[in-house]
Amino acid sequence: MPKAISIRKVDGKPGQVYYPLEHIQLPEPQPKENEVVVQITAAALNHRDLFLRQHLYPGTTFGVPLLADGAGVVVATGSGSQAQQWKGKRVVLNPGSGWQDDPDGPESPKGYAILGGTKMNPLGTLGETVTIGAEELELAPRHLSSVEAAALPLTGLTAWRAVMTKSGQAKPGRNILITGIGGGVALMALLFASAAGANVFVSSGSQEKLDKAKALGAAGGVNYKEEGWDKKLLAQMPPERKMLDAIIDGAGGDVVEKGTRMLRVSHVLCM
Ligand SMILES: NC(=O)c1ccc[n+]([C@@H]2O[C@H](COP(=O)([O-])OP(=O)(O)OC[C@H]3O[C@@H](n4cnc5c(N)ncnc54)[C@H](OP(=O)(O)O)[C@@H]3O)[C@@H](O)[C@H]2O)c1
Repeated sequence: MPKAISIRKVDGKPGQVYYPLEHIQLPEPQPKENEVVVQITAAALNHRDLFLRQHLYPGTTFGVPLLADGAGVVVATGSGSQAQQWKGKRVVLNPGSGWQDDPDGPESPKGYAILGGTKMNPLGTLGETVTIGAEELELAPRHLSSVEAAALPLTGLTAWRAVMTKSGQAKPGRNILITGIGGGVALMALLFASAAGANVFVSSGSQEKLDKAKALGAAGGVNYKEEGWDKKLLAQMPPERKMLDAIIDGAGGDVVEKGTRMLRVSHVLCM
């Protein structure tokens, strides 16, 4: 039987407890008609996994494999043709169920149920195998290793939706501010927005992270802990466009008050 890793219950209050990990046995995989068995070759951590161990994440559940992100190889399939076409393919998993194609959001009335560590979805990628519907697979990009591909799905989808779908501003010449560039989603947002040709400005509490962001394509950056970061940001923008077209924010703080004053009228704050 395949093994997986979940959190084990110990006494403690949310935020003070740090649940230990334990091995669990999964049932022998028996894929239904349109299901596949993915042998996991790499899985990725996300900030939500730390929150789960601290019992700070909604629906935290013991005995459910941890982690939402994974890459692997399809080693067995159900009898359906949709499933069989995946046999032997290198794949990444949709990190949640209930959302197939609609850019406006999850189609399922129950919303998006993220994999890993909660009762909302019994699957997780921190295990030897995941048995999942074939419709939840994507081919792993050929130019990425398994480790790189596993890091892409959840932060990548979140950032893609914020930058490309909701903001609509990832275009050459547009100014986009991404806050808290040390964050996982923020880093993906920087890569997408700068690849699309936007002038990306970032904020961070650390100079080292600002320098790294510039090496990854940011046009400029400011430390959100410093007084007057908003004026310093304005000074870095091109003279012909002293305004922001979008703010991608997952951190809060005074960006709502100060950042929105720099936003072009009727433009957007996302994430
Ligand atoms: N991770 C996901 O897959 C995912 C999925 C859906 C939604 N979300 C949401 O997206 C947001 C970001 O998630 P994440 O996992 O990327 O977070 P994360 O990796 O924990 O990063 C959060 C970042 O916020 C920055 N920050 C903290 N205080 C700040 C302040 N006062 N002003 C500006 N920035 C500040 C820090 O940046 P520096 O280190 O640069 O200082 C920190 O690295 C959260 O609201 C989360 O709920 C995340």
